Amino acid sequence: MTAATGLHTLLATMRPELRGGEFVYTLWPHGRPLEGAIEAAVREAEGMTVVLPRKDADTLGLSYDFVGAWITLQVHSSLDAIGLTAAVSTALTDAKISCNVLAGFHHDHILVPVADADRALEALHELAAAHGEHTPAPELVLRTGRPADRSAILALTAAAFVVSPVSGLPADGGPREVPLMRALFDCAEFLPEFSIVAELDGAVVGHVISTRGRAGELDLLGLGPIGVLPRLQRHGIGSALMQETIARANAAGERGIALLGDPEYYSRFGFVPSTSLGVEPPCSAWGPHFQLLPLALWPGGVSGSFHYAEAFGIAETGARRAIMDRAPQ
Ligand SMILES: CC(C)(COP(=O)(O)OP(=O)(O)OC[C@H]1O[C@@H](n2cnc3c(N)ncnc32)[C@H](O)[C@@H]1OP(=O)(O)O)[C@@H](O)C(=O)NCCC(=O)NCCS
Repeated sequence: MTAATGLHTLLATMRPELRGGEFVYTLWPHGRPLEGAIEAAVREAEGMTVVLPRKDADTLGLSYDFVGAWITLQVHSSLDAIGLTAAVSTALTDAKISCNVLAGFHHDHILVPVADADRALEALHELAAAHGEHTPAPELVLRTGRPADRSAILALTAAAFVVSPVSGLPADGGPREVPLMRALFDCAEFLPEFSIVAELDGAVVGHVISTRGRAGELDLLGLGPIGVLPRLQRHGIGSALMQETIARANAAGERGIALLGDPEYYSRFGFVPSTSLGVEPPCSAWGPHFQLLPLALWPGGVSGSFHYAEAFGIAETGARRAIMDRAPQ
């Protein structure tokens, strides 16, 4: 994606939200251990600046000048996204509102004087609306992945899984889904038409793969991993990839799709615990997290355990564990 398009998307979808409470910047007393509900800290040669709720600063007897309201831009912005901070601070400057911007891994946060909070929200909503109205959003293209896409898909997978969906922490040695994906591309159970890429303005922003799996004698699809570029998550791209997989699977006469994941997300596509359809998960501990979507040609009367593509087992250290690790703890 080009920087301009990325900026357009970020601005049009930034969803500014006001957190409750008042926050202050204070210089932390030298040598004093950190305490209280600290929201951010910056260490400088001259000392440590911390941002914390005003009530905590008062309790701790810390002095401050700036009392701010905290606005979070709910869009997931990349730390290297170009122009978002400039666009936001320009809009607020135009509205004669001073602002301090804090960039977190997931979101940008703006602190504005408490008295200006409502006007700041209004200015940010106007900025988002202006981008939503005047520049058409680039169209999402869903297409079959090609060998030439593989490095982009692996990079996307690394970005999507940089934080483990299970532990919420970065995985030691990098996301395990990357070697898994590499192994899946090369395995006998790879089904080219079920490697589906989501493309926005010529760039790969999402991908889902389903490979041949089996329950007893019945051929099924084993879906996963699925990933969307972090800064574009929660904009419907994952759902579009799921729907496309389901449509393709039905059109191809597939019987059902199995996956391991959060029932809260996948139930919206019709997935149910696999055991309710007679299919045991590959690992019993997965319980209701192992789900199945019966397709139009679901035969009924199925029984047996699900077996993923061989590649999940071949890349034992990286690949299978990527799946195993997602089992509920
Ligand atoms: C999971 C993922 C593919 C969903 O794609 P997406 O484009 O963000 O999802 P959509 O915009 O279509 O849907 C967003 C909705 O799904 C929900 N959702 C997303 N991931 C979820 C999860 N892991 N568990 C529960 N709900 C989830 C969101 O809360 C949101 O719900 P809402 O519409 O009620 O607010 C994407 O978030 C992602 O890449 N996550 C990191 C990798 C990962 O966890 N992959 C799945 C395991 S293989």
